[in-house]
Parts: sequence; structure tokens; C-alpha cells
Amino acid sequence: MIALAAAPFAMPAACPVNNVPPVVEEVLAPGEEASLIARIKTLLIERDAVLVAHYYTSAALQRLAEETGGCVSDSLEMARFGHAAKQQTLVVAGVRFMGETAKILNPEKRVLMPDRRAECSLDLSCPAEDFSRFCDAHPEREVVVYANTSAAVKARADWMVTSSIAVKVVAHLHAQGKRLIWAPDRYLGDYVRKATGADMLLWQGSCVVHEKFKADGIEALKAEYADAAVLVHPESPAGVIALADVVGSTTQLIRAAAELPQRTLIVATDNGIFHKMQLAAPGKTLLEAPTGGQGATCVSCAHCPWMAMNSLKGLLHVLETGADEIRVDPAVGRRAVVSINRMLAFAGQAGIGIAGMSGD
Ligand code: 13P
Ligand code: SF4
Repeated sequence: MIALAAAPFAMPAACPVNNVPPVVEEVLAPGEEASLIARIKTLLIERDAVLVAHYYTSAALQRLAEETGGCVSDSLEMARFGHAAKQQTLVVAGVRFMGETAKILNPEKRVLMPDRRAECSLDLSCPAEDFSRFCDAHPEREVVVYANTSAAVKARADWMVTSSIAVKVVAHLHAQGKRLIWAPDRYLGDYVRKATGADMLLWQGSCVVHEKFKADGIEALKAEYADAAVLVHPESPAGVIALADVVGSTTQLIRAAAELPQRTLIVATDNGIFHKMQLAAPGKTLLEAPTGGQGATCVSCAHCPWMAMNSLKGLLHVLETGADEIRVDPAVGRRAVVSINRMLAFAGQAGIGIAGMSGD
């Protein structure tokens, strides 16, 4: 009998994500917010819990995290904060990969989320089994994945990186002559490839929020506000990145907003960041980068529908009931933590602040 060789895995030209939910913001009756917050504050203490929130969640959740001794940050700093926290329960207001990363780094702690259905289109675009077959088809390549992936994809990777350190890690691997697989964000991958000259095979995922920013819309805005600086998250398309004065992670963009001399800033990332950015840059004018214009099809213009699922009511519910706990298969977690720790060790040796706030 002739054994048939398995067909090499053919990656699709793009990995679109269907069924993106609509953006639904929490609407509360007058006085309801204050009473929810009071009950949540009591329960955080009673349950020995701390709230860790991403910049894209609501201003109410961000304020609450800070008022109760938690943190508001980018994806990796959220996980690092959880590790250092003395509380036994971490409540992660963000999307699922952030909850999973917190659990991988803190397997002994309980990790809850206000809504475990909060996904990420990058994570969804990269199913672990397909990705594993893709890696198997290119065994000579080192595998680098973005933080916005499932625990199983991180477990298949050699390195996990965040947007604040991706260029530095890839430049380091490129200098060692390594050829790479990169997943899942094709735009961030393209940006890193151009910045480093590395040989990278790119998975074709994308962020449903950032890929909708429009270069022609930003150019029109720049014509109106001649002195404005443009701040761009690198999950955006190349044409948008090409217009940027600063490209960086969420934390790096907030720092740039404070430090740049310009008084007007055009911001191409989720508009949830405006709460912290405005506090960091008081008196400056922040303009949302346009998502409309020619070819616009956005369903979630400049706001992540999954981040919007994080609500005060959901937070109260999980604290009361323990629902929406994040679980990661311990065997998967033990493999995934290797790729995360590799990046943490690299950052430590290079003296790089992961969050981008400490001088990287
Ligand atoms: P940061 O790690 O820069 O916060 O990015 C996370 C994210 O999901 C951006 O869309
Ligand atoms: Fe994922 Fe984009 Fe939402 Fe960030 S903004 S969590 S990359 S879908």
C-alpha cells in the first residue's frame, strides 16, 4: 500500500471573523452606577479580589480598578500586576486572552472576568489546530505569536510577544539568523517585518477595530489640523502606520500623548483609551482617527465590541456568584508559560519595560 503524504497546510489569503457582535455599551439608570460601585467595592474585599482592567474598558471600570488598588494597563502589564498582587482572586476586565494569560501566569489563583464571552478577532482568527498544522509544515522556523492568542496557540509557540516589545524580540531573533512564523496579526507582522528585515511567514488575522482606520480620512483630518500629531497602534493597516508620528502599544501611545509638543492628537486605536490619554495629556485635543470614508464597512467603529461587554453589572454578578471563571488546561498552561516567560526574561535582560512606561 502506498502511504499518502499529508497535504501541506495552505493558509487562507485572509482569516475573516464572522459574527462580530454589535457594540453595546452599558446604560445605567440615575444613581444605579453609585450603588453598583459601592456593592462591588465591598465584595472585592470580602472575596479577596483585585480588579485589573484594560485601557479599552469603560471609564467607570478603569476608575474603579484604580480606586480599589487594582490596575489599568496594557495586556501584559495586567498579567504581571496579577502575579504581584497579594489577593487570591484576579478579576480581569478585558478580553478572554487577557484572562487566560493571567491564569497561565498565576495558576494557583482564581481568575474571573465580568463576561467570559468577550473574545478578540485576532484570537478567533487563529484556531490552535490549524495553526499547529501550519507550524508543522515549516519545522525550520521559530514560532513567534502575539499576546492576542489562545492558551493553546501560546503553547505551540517558542515566543509570545506584546506590541511594545515585538520589534525588539524579532530583531534579536533575526540577528541570530532565525527564520520565523508570525501569528496572528498580519498588520503588526508586516510592520515588524519591515522594521527588522526578518524573514517572517505571516498568519493572516486582523483586528476588527484597527483594520478599519482609513489613511485618506486621517490625511483629510491632517489637512484641517495642520499641527496635529498622529498616534497609531500597530494593529492598523500599513497605509495608516505610514502616516504616524508615533507607533506603539496602548501604554506607549498614552506616554507619547503626554510627551509630544503638539496640542492636537489624531489617535488610531480603540477610543476607550481616551479616558487615560486625556488624563495624561490634560488640555490637549484628542481626535478619533476616521474609520469612515471610501470602502468603510466597520461594524465597530473605533471601539471593540468585546471590550464593551465588560460591565459593572457583569462584574457584580461574577463577584456574587463566582461565574465566568477562567480555566486553562494545566498541561497547556505549563507549555504556554514557557513562551511568555521567554519574553519576560528577554525584557529583563535588555532592561526593557514591557508596558512601555519605563524607558523602552
Ligand atoms: P496592548 O497590549 O497594546 O494594550 O494591545 C492590546 C490590544 O488588544 C490592542 O487591540
Ligand atoms: Fe482584539 Fe482588536 Fe478588540 Fe484588541 S481591539 S481585543 S485586538 S478585537
